[in-house]
Amino acid sequence: MSLTLGIIKPDAVQSGRAGNILAHLEAAGFTVRALQMTRLNTVQAGAFYSVHKERPFFDSLVTFMTSGPLIPVVLEADDAVMELRKVIGATDPAEADDGTVRKLFAESKERNAIHASDSDENASAEIAFFFSAHQTLGL
Ligand code: CMP
Repeated sequence: MSLTLGIIKPDAVQSGRAGNILAHLEAAGFTVRALQMTRLNTVQAGAFYSVHKERPFFDSLVTFMTSGPLIPVVLEADDAVMELRKVIGATDPAEADDGTVRKLFAESKERNAIHASDSDENASAEIAFFFSAHQTLGL
């Protein structure tokens, strides 16, 4: 078993789809190991997405990710990083496979309902970004 970080993004929280997305992830075999609702400020969102800071969509992405509450969630499964990326589908919901979270719940390439870590190394860093030691005791 391994861990990954998912983030139910502000579009999905605002439109009342967070519960359906969590249910979808559990039905797909993930176990929720830690979860919170929080809100990012501009500095925090910029730091989280710093790998994209030269991209043309960076400012818009930061504006979107600070627009409302979001729900980071630590998920456990066999090969959790790769499995979650499969289950959420392509970045752009128009290109996502049927049955994936983004096909079912995302609005657009930017407002795409959910984030997932892209490597075990980034999963560890992203979990530590949102969850403190006492919240991850026992993971
Ligand atoms: P995520 O998987 O969280 O990683 C980076 C995010 O940037 C991505 O989901 C989208 O929300 C956003 N993104 C990526 N590419 C684009 C794009 N071409 N235009 C707008 N937003 C994008």
